Amino acid sequence: MMQRLAWLTLAGALWIAPAMAQTGFTPRDESPEEFAAGAGRDETFYACTACHGFRLVAQQGMTRARWEDSLNLMVRSHNMPPLDGKDRETVLNYLEAAYPPRAPTGRRGWQNPFAK
Ligand code: HEC
Repeated sequence: MMQRLAWLTLAGALWIAPAMAQTGFTPRDESPEEFAAGAGRDETFYACTACHGFRLVAQQGMTRARWEDSLNLMVRSHNMPPLDGKDRETVLNYLEAAYPPRAPTGRRGWQNPFAK
């Protein structure tokens, strides 16, 4: 009886493991080339995708000050290792240039093709 239980447990573990491996984000789902070109893109991509998809970053549009707040939040609340001065500068320069605040009628939003 005990032996049978052990087999069932083992079979269960073998069945569950591959399913778990499929959940969760891996950086391989995205590559830096998919995102706005600019100096520091690769550095920023790899700094952020250690934890989450870069899409989460790219969908934001913020001022430099608010990007700084975001970085601080990542460090304070999510255990991101703080970037040292030069890396931080590189990342902030990229984020500021590539993902600035969007105007309400920015190019990224839906636009009426008939309005001129
Ligand atoms: C050590 C882990 C870690 C790293 C590294 C990290 N983040 Fe995050 N970040 C998180 C977690 C956890 C969340 C919240 C959970 C989620 O939404 O996936 C988050 C959420 C965010 C959000 C969404 C916040 C919101 O208001 O919804 C932004 C923007 C963000 N991160 C920016 C960045 C940027 C930019 C970088 C790289 C410079 C970065 N993160 C690197 C852990 C990290």
